[in-house]
Amino acid sequence: MARIIPPRVTSHPSWKSLKAHHKEIASTHLRELFASDPGRAARMRAEGAGIILDYSKNRLTDRTLSLLFELAESCKLSDHIREMFEGQHINKTENRAVLHVALRLPKSASLVVDGVDVVREVHEVLDRMGTFAQKVRDGSWKGATGRPIKNIVNIGIGGSDLGPVMAYEALRFFADRRLVFRFVSNIDGTDFAEATRELDPEETLFIVSSKTFTTLETMTNAHTARRWLLNTLKKDEAIRHHFVAVSTNAQAVSAFGIDTANMFGFWDWVGGRYSMDSAIGLSTMIAIGPENFRKMLDGFHAMDEHFRTAPFAKNLPVLMGLLTVWYTNFFGSQTVAVLPYDQYLKRFPAYLQQLTMESNGKHVHLDGSLVDTDTGPIYWGEPGTNGQHSFYQLIHQGTHLIPIDFIGFARSHNPIGDHHDILMANLLAQGEALAFGKTAEEVRAAGVPELQVPHRTFEGNRPSNTLLAPELTPAVLGALVALYEHSVFTSGIIWGIDSFDQWGVELGKVMAVKIIGEIAGKPAEGGPHDSGTASLLDWYRKNRRKG
Ligand code: F6P
Repeated sequence: MARIIPPRVTSHPSWKSLKAHHKEIASTHLRELFASDPGRAARMRAEGAGIILDYSKNRLTDRTLSLLFELAESCKLSDHIREMFEGQHINKTENRAVLHVALRLPKSASLVVDGVDVVREVHEVLDRMGTFAQKVRDGSWKGATGRPIKNIVNIGIGGSDLGPVMAYEALRFFADRRLVFRFVSNIDGTDFAEATRELDPEETLFIVSSKTFTTLETMTNAHTARRWLLNTLKKDEAIRHHFVAVSTNAQAVSAFGIDTANMFGFWDWVGGRYSMDSAIGLSTMIAIGPENFRKMLDGFHAMDEHFRTAPFAKNLPVLMGLLTVWYTNFFGSQTVAVLPYDQYLKRFPAYLQQLTMESNGKHVHLDGSLVDTDTGPIYWGEPGTNGQHSFYQLIHQGTHLIPIDFIGFARSHNPIGDHHDILMANLLAQGEALAFGKTAEEVRAAGVPELQVPHRTFEGNRPSNTLLAPELTPAVLGALVALYEHSVFTSGIIWGIDSFDQWGVELGKVMAVKIIGEIAGKPAEGGPHDSGTASLLDWYRKNRRKG
């Protein structure tokens, strides 16, 4: 029987209408949109799970929105959302459910997937994590020589690192300052060496975080950590006091020598980049305490419920996911800048890079056919106001259209003098300057010499979202992360791709293993390299040892 190929999104009538509509409004300036519509800002604002989204400074009208909602309807977005929450196997290429939303369901809930109540399992692990985290925090978890743990080193990479680092930095205000947290991810030995340089092995706990427990970087770093520890503590017996594991692979954990009683599990329905609220968040829980961790989960859950139930027009993740499609596919934008005006969110853009780009950086539809339009944009960013003195020049006056997400809070955890007012004034000023710019007439009227006028003119019409919340609490962080998770999902549904696999990381891994063998003197497997790679490898072989 012939395979039924679903219609491509570009053939949907609403896509065609959006194309035509884009032509009509592409040259309309945000100045005109605001001037002709006094109610715009009040109307183009939505709120969910304690986060406000102001999307009025986007290049769209009510007609754009209704066409985008039509597109979402024609792509059956609501059905797809329901399927995810029900635990259907929506990760088609790996035949898996995608259930990070189950990680934050309350204990009283129940969700039976493939015959198992996953909520019960999730809470069993959370309870075990809570007991363990409490022991480390109160000093009753002792190292092999009886000293309490002072240093916690998370070893992991990708989703087993970026979420934990980001959450630790974001929630540092809530962290127990007696404890030191380090994160080792890179295979570069410098990462391990610098992270552990002044740590005392007797007071150090390693959390080996790896869903598969086979990842080359993590396993190499974990073995190095083992040697580093045993160098001082000598006996293998010390391992169980200083190593715990977070993984889905009990067999490999045990083979490494970690007592599986000290292993915290999760499930194949949690993708690496969607796992910071699973046991992968153990370091976060030790830092901020089980109660704050649960508040973070509540924030995630509140945004899940908002996403599941709010109408599209009021639904933050749906709005943001559709705006990504609008700019990527109709304006041809290649990137999105995420600019948090909060120092605690300094690692948030890096975290979002994996979440968004590993999810939606795909070139084929779910059925394997080639996409015929662009998919996931490049995400990048830095905390404000640092970026202003670096790359904002290009955003204001360069030739690329870069949609922006500004993130800010009403209150700082460190209310020193007028720092926070100045910070927030900058956020507001940037959104306004980007949208409205400064015309040549305005520049001339300010007495600028004619020679400089073109250089000091700001075209404006540069779009931004502004996300606001009262303050950066564990719950708000959870809601913020869930907001991006679901907006990535929304865009992925429109593009008809699998947002939950990551086959694109495989080829480089396999080729690295082959080259590792060759550096060690083994013959090249599977034929010679291209001449460029061969000569680089040759240079490396000759120069890798001093002298
Ligand atoms: O190489 C990419 C990746 O598979 C990510 O998706 C994942 O987060 C990371 O590697 C780490 O994987 P693991 O947790 O299995 O070590």
